[in-house]
Amino acid sequence: MLEIKHLRKSFGSLVAVDDVSFVVNAGQLVGLLGPNGAGKTTTVSMIAGLLTPDHGEVLVGGQRLAGDTDPAKRRIGLVPQDLALYDELTARDNLRFFGALYNLTGRALDEAIGAAMHLVELSDRIKDRVKTFSGGMKRRLNLAAGLLHDPDILLLDEPTVGVDPQSRNAIFDNLETLKRRGKALLYTTHYMEEAERLADRIVVIDHGKVVADDTVAGLQSRVAPVEDIGGVRANLETVFLTLTGRSLRD
Ligand SMILES: Nc1ncnc2c1ncn2[C@@H]1O[C@H](COP(=O)(O)OP(=O)(O)OP(=O)(O)O)[C@@H](O)[C@H]1O
Ligand SMILES: [Mg+2]
Repeated sequence: MLEIKHLRKSFGSLVAVDDVSFVVNAGQLVGLLGPNGAGKTTTVSMIAGLLTPDHGEVLVGGQRLAGDTDPAKRRIGLVPQDLALYDELTARDNLRFFGALYNLTGRALDEAIGAAMHLVELSDRIKDRVKTFSGGMKRRLNLAAGLLHDPDILLLDEPTVGVDPQSRNAIFDNLETLKRRGKALLYTTHYMEEAERLADRIVVIDHGKVVADDTVAGLQSRVAPVEDIGGVRANLETVFLTLTGRSLRD
């Protein structure tokens, strides 16, 4: 469903994303892991068309995305790392705004808003201003905004930051539902247990480069001979630290 090939992006002399390639199939969730500054958001932004790559290409359903006006861009939804919500507007008006960006109007828009709000369990707060929402509710509304136009591919950039276990589990349930509906999900997180629970494959990037692309079990078995203590499989955090080192990044 989503294929990225040899993506590269520099900011001045810094190569933020350096020859990154991977695939996300329909009905699959791929975890994109990496330390702070590894290049995750830059990669996601290039896939979403917010940043132009210096090199490489993004393919949706086998077709190369041809710039900003390509209708295939509609097949992609973005749940950004920084909340993109208007505090003074109600939840419904926020979603109306996002729907308008995708040319959704009238009944189609109202139905899409109803379905998205139902999925994230915010139907009863639809008329309330976002400034009255908790952190978890804002994150769930942010998710609703990203999937309003029913994209085939959903890019989720740290969607559970600052969220309590209840909202987090609600978000996980939403993602499982979307997977079952055949969506391709790309999910960045710093929470290893989330990746372990949700991801069909994991891509680890560091300093802009892919350092691993494997299943959780595959990653664990790579590191196990060195890191295993008493025959217990290395957990994903141990694998992650082995792949990316222990030095601080910012
Ligand atoms: N617009 C920009 N101008 C200059 N440098 C940038 C810009 N955006 C990102 N960078 C740099 O590119 C590198 C990759 O940043 P990016 O935001 O993609 O990392 P990340 O993996 O998402 O990190 P985090 O986990 O902290 O969100 C970092 O060194 C960052 O400082
Ligand atoms: Mg980021």
